[in-house]
Amino acid sequence: IKITYVEHNGREHTVGVPQGGTLMEGARDNGIPGIEADCGGACSCATCHAYIDSAWIEKLPAKQPMEADMLDFAYEPDATRSRLTCQVRVTEALNGLVLHMPERQA
Ligand code: FES
Repeated sequence: IKITYVEHNGREHTVGVPQGGTLMEGARDNGIPGIEADCGGACSCATCHAYIDSAWIEKLPAKQPMEADMLDFAYEPDATRSRLTCQVRVTEALNGLVLHMPERQA
């Protein structure tokens, strides 16, 4: 599944992420800077925060309460666009998705 990660400095990385993996794993496994994921995907660190491109927000499954709570600890979260990338699984419906890294992680 094709995913485009945009660094805060505007540098874009378009990579293939396996279906069923998470957006966080796609960044980590391709060595893309900007997502730290200190907790390894357990929804307990908020350092995998990113902003989903506005064209794609509606296509994502809704946040679980745990993700919503944890996002409060992220750096400059935006209630409409922010997600924890370890909590978003890649599916066919997300092919072409674009997401933007924050200036820094929490
Ligand atoms: Fe820690 Fe996502 S990797 S909350």
